[in-house]
Amino acid sequence: MHPTKSTRTQVAIIGAGPAGLFLSHLLHRQGIESVILESRSREEIEGTIRAGVLEQWVVDLMNGMGLGDRMMREGHFHSGITLRFDRQSHHIDMAELTGGKRVTVYAQHEVIRDLVSARLEDGGTILFGVSDVQFADLDGKAPRVQFRRGPDGPVDELRCDFIAGCDGFHGPSRQAIPAAARTEYQIVYPFGWLGILTEAPPSHPELIYANHERGFALLSTRSPEVQRLYIQVDPKDDIANWSDDRIWSELHRRLEDESGWTLKEGPIFQKGIIAMRSFVCDPMQHGRLFIAGDAAHIVPPTGAKGLNLAVADVLVLSRAMAAYYKSGTTEGLEGYSATCLRRIWKAERFSWYMTTMLHRNEKESPFEQRVHLAELDYLVHSRAAMTALAENYVGLPME
Ligand code: APR
Ligand code: PHB
Repeated sequence: MHPTKSTRTQVAIIGAGPAGLFLSHLLHRQGIESVILESRSREEIEGTIRAGVLEQWVVDLMNGMGLGDRMMREGHFHSGITLRFDRQSHHIDMAELTGGKRVTVYAQHEVIRDLVSARLEDGGTILFGVSDVQFADLDGKAPRVQFRRGPDGPVDELRCDFIAGCDGFHGPSRQAIPAAARTEYQIVYPFGWLGILTEAPPSHPELIYANHERGFALLSTRSPEVQRLYIQVDPKDDIANWSDDRIWSELHRRLEDESGWTLKEGPIFQKGIIAMRSFVCDPMQHGRLFIAGDAAHIVPPTGAKGLNLAVADVLVLSRAMAAYYKSGTTEGLEGYSATCLRRIWKAERFSWYMTTMLHRNEKESPFEQRVHLAELDYLVHSRAAMTALAENYVGLPME
């Protein structure tokens, strides 16, 4: 590729997901310039339905950055969750167990909308719809990114000091770390989540995680008018096999308990099936390339950690870059991967624990299945166990 135009910035960021957008904001606050290259359009990234739970420290960070106004108006603050199994409900009071911490339910695409508009208002550069992103000179002090403006546009070059690969699980950044220099750890679960959005009033004031003999179910929310619900299905199942009636029938059976509580229905306006995996790439750096968020790791959604982990990575990275530009120290940059991976592995552990405990796995022996039920029974009757769940769920402290 021969560039027709060459520009320079301090940090080239690939991807305008939560990782790339938070990083650009955090760097801007430190006086560090960045350019974001995003392959999709603004409308697409602002319209894609993803996660929805923010840990307390992420909410505090957004407010501290002046990005939290709409979240504080439209988000839902949850101080506990309900666990259901054996048709019984058990409330876990997160706030009481963690000294007042809560989680905030505010959809990821709303976070994206807030961060994109604030970044553009600040004069930041986000190039949407780029293609063919390629890296050069990652090992030297002046790495470069080449890309096309649009699908068949002219080739541009971005010269920079650092590249931040925030391009999600399928992006090119992780692949730019030579295979011999990285180790990948992975579990692919035999579960999928069939997720719906429905125009219905809330059925319950907090999230319900249900372990049922027909499979896991989760009740979540998006707004007073829109609810988000999931059921465990075979990841290879086809959404065409799931009529709205069949979905509601499964949701009722799996979510309802003995108290007489009932689920409120409404028209389903979005449905799809997602597969579930746990994945970690170690290290998360190669030369001047640093990868963050889903580019480096995936958690199954059961622990609600994906978005929060992406923000944690880029907070560590922004601090390391700020220290480098302020005083030339490279310790933070050299320690980036190890610092992030300590938190990531704890979130991987928690997400795996929640996933295996709450789902039904035909491949597990009856013994293992009984152990999960004993684990749930122990959990809801032990303050120590509930505290352990709560402190992970609301988010471990950022060091
Ligand atoms: N060039 C430019 N941009 C790219 C490329 C590419 N070759 N490939 C992917 N991208 C963009 C995607 O279009 C997407 O907007 O990178 C962005 C990556 O964003 P996310 O996938 O949202 O990843 P991340 O920012 O790490 O956020 C992690 O997202 O998957 C959810 O639930 C997960 O909450 C977690 C969060
Ligand atoms: C969601 O609302 O999309 C959601 C909530 C909790 C989870 C996962 C997803 O654990």
